[in-house]
Amino acid sequence: MRLAKEIARHDRLYHDRDEPEISDADYDALVRENRELEARFPHLVRKDSPSARLGAAPTSSLAKVTHARPMLSLDNAFSDAEVEEFVARARRFLSLPADAPVVLTAEPKIDGLSCSLRYENGALVQAATRGDGAVGEDVTANVRTIADIPQRIDGAPALLEVRGEVYMAKADFAALNARQEASGGKIFANPRNAAAGSLRQKDASVTAARPLRFLAHGWGEVSEPLADTQYDAMKRIEGFGIPVSDLLVRVDNLAHTLAHYSKIEHARADLPFDIDGVVYKVDRLDLQERLGFVARAPRWGLAHKFPAEKAETTLEAIDIQVGRTGKLTPVGRLKPVGVGGVIVSNVTLHNRDEIARLGLRIGDRVRIQRAGDVIPQVVENRTRDAPRDPYVFPDHCPECGSEAVAEEGEVDVRCTGGLICPAQRLERLKHFVSRGAMDIDGLGEKSLVEFISLDWLKAPSDIFRLKAHRDQLIGREGWQAVSVDKLLAAIDARIGFDPARFLFGLGIRHVGAVTAKDLMKAFGTVEELERVARSDSAIADLSNVEGVGGVVAQAVVDFFHEPHNREEVAQLLALAKPAAYVSTARETEWSGKTIVFTGTLETMSRDEAKAQAERLGARAAGSVSAKTDLVVAGPGAGSKLKKAEELGIRVMSEGEWLAEVANS
Ligand code: IVH
Repeated sequence: MRLAKEIARHDRLYHDRDEPEISDADYDALVRENRELEARFPHLVRKDSPSARLGAAPTSSLAKVTHARPMLSLDNAFSDAEVEEFVARARRFLSLPADAPVVLTAEPKIDGLSCSLRYENGALVQAATRGDGAVGEDVTANVRTIADIPQRIDGAPALLEVRGEVYMAKADFAALNARQEASGGKIFANPRNAAAGSLRQKDASVTAARPLRFLAHGWGEVSEPLADTQYDAMKRIEGFGIPVSDLLVRVDNLAHTLAHYSKIEHARADLPFDIDGVVYKVDRLDLQERLGFVARAPRWGLAHKFPAEKAETTLEAIDIQVGRTGKLTPVGRLKPVGVGGVIVSNVTLHNRDEIARLGLRIGDRVRIQRAGDVIPQVVENRTRDAPRDPYVFPDHCPECGSEAVAEEGEVDVRCTGGLICPAQRLERLKHFVSRGAMDIDGLGEKSLVEFISLDWLKAPSDIFRLKAHRDQLIGREGWQAVSVDKLLAAIDARIGFDPARFLFGLGIRHVGAVTAKDLMKAFGTVEELERVARSDSAIADLSNVEGVGGVVAQAVVDFFHEPHNREEVAQLLALAKPAAYVSTARETEWSGKTIVFTGTLETMSRDEAKAQAERLGARAAGSVSAKTDLVVAGPGAGSKLKKAEELGIRVMSEGEWLAEVANS
């Protein structure tokens, strides 16, 4: 599902890169939408569904730590009614009478990153980030530099994991960014990202120089209970010398609960750190135990989020930014205005449709909102009736002048000048030399960036012209004659290479490695493909190819329609001289058949399984339909296996498939 992918992308931006593109409220909305879709269409649930995951899996080079008890998340509420429903649900679950009091704790929801501190016999032995909830990253050395966190505690159980938020105070964040700016370092979007970036450092001396703080809000594994209630347990943790919020209270009815929420909301601007809501937890730990968890969140806890902050100002201009994948994103430039303590002068306008929906024109008065503290957005246009010309979304890329188009049914407008567009240069080059494409050894991202900055690389064809820079390159830092010649030889080795990989390397939208093979199987050479793509019957001819549908056909036509692309392809063909396509598939019983691999494959990767299928002349598909000829099912195969059985499709195990491969 596209939505799940989109969520995963935002997870990575947020967790790995500390550079979120959307507000927390927007993110929450995506997650909700995904959950609703999954509830309606359970067969679409991805194995890596964000509902089953908490944030991105750790990807940095820090060591991994498997949490003794998973680090969970909280469900969100945005209204008083949802808070009331939370308590009612807990009561129903516990079969308590409708008027039975349920005591809760209430405390601020700190906008930091959660961290688990493991104390053994009073000594801090390990600290880990949440990661994906099951596996986090080892940040022990970094955490040892945080003054709020004691290295030793007295009177604690032999084993105690304290959990809480590592955060950066607002004032410290502002000072850090000022220092970063002065030294040309990375500017952080908000205190949370600064805290994350500071904690997840390989070199703990960097962390030590950053003013990080800690507030406990719970615990993980313990060798003996801390207390009978959440409140008393937190007071014990406080007694160990670990900071706990002084806004933590017990509340025993809805009115008290909401009153404390208001109190914290009013204190918000004056608190030294960012908060984005109030967290409620059922106080009695025996009840917490009985309530347990659903998917990723406990039934005994709830995050009551603050509403977004709003302000009104004038839209002074609309600029278009071109992303690394060619997407044109409109950005509104505003007359600067304060929203919740921050001066805002830019808003994301998302896409062409959003501008149309709001009827935005330059000079309009707009209401903007800042939810969480990421990029604000326009929620309302206050001057729709003024006699002004409508804003016309560009139909050409502002970076390279190529045509910019939206695919049918898509809201995003994209630059079609992929091969020559400077905004997309690095991504395109990376893709062109990648393993599945031209597979040029020794041309990693670092070298590409270096050559781009020297102006040696603008488009993929320049790779085959690098030899002209041999002498200049030798002697640059990190390059010697041997390594330069090795690189040039690796490039030369790709002259006369497989045309399907060449085609895949062009990065035409929707033309993946398999589709590229299908196209080359049908047309033999890239020249012939281009001829067909420019003919009057292009869409029909391309759609006729096995494995190619209307969307791919249109993308190929759009690509070759762009003169810049044709020019670059011509140069590439002259230099790289791809061979004519030779099918590596054999004629076997499986030729032309469609195979679906599902469940866990135990002896090979999914890519390898696909390659095996292709070598036997078969196609590997992602979903089971009446057209499927075989399903290879490993452990954990779910809905696809069920569907195969319903449709009477042949099913085999991985072992049987391997025997088939060996015998074919
Ligand atoms: S309790 C099992 N209390 O919010 C639930 N979490 O959205 C454990 N957070 O992962 C979380 N302040 O990183 C709790 N007072 C607080 C919190 C808090 C911030 C974070 C925490 C958690 C996330 C859930």
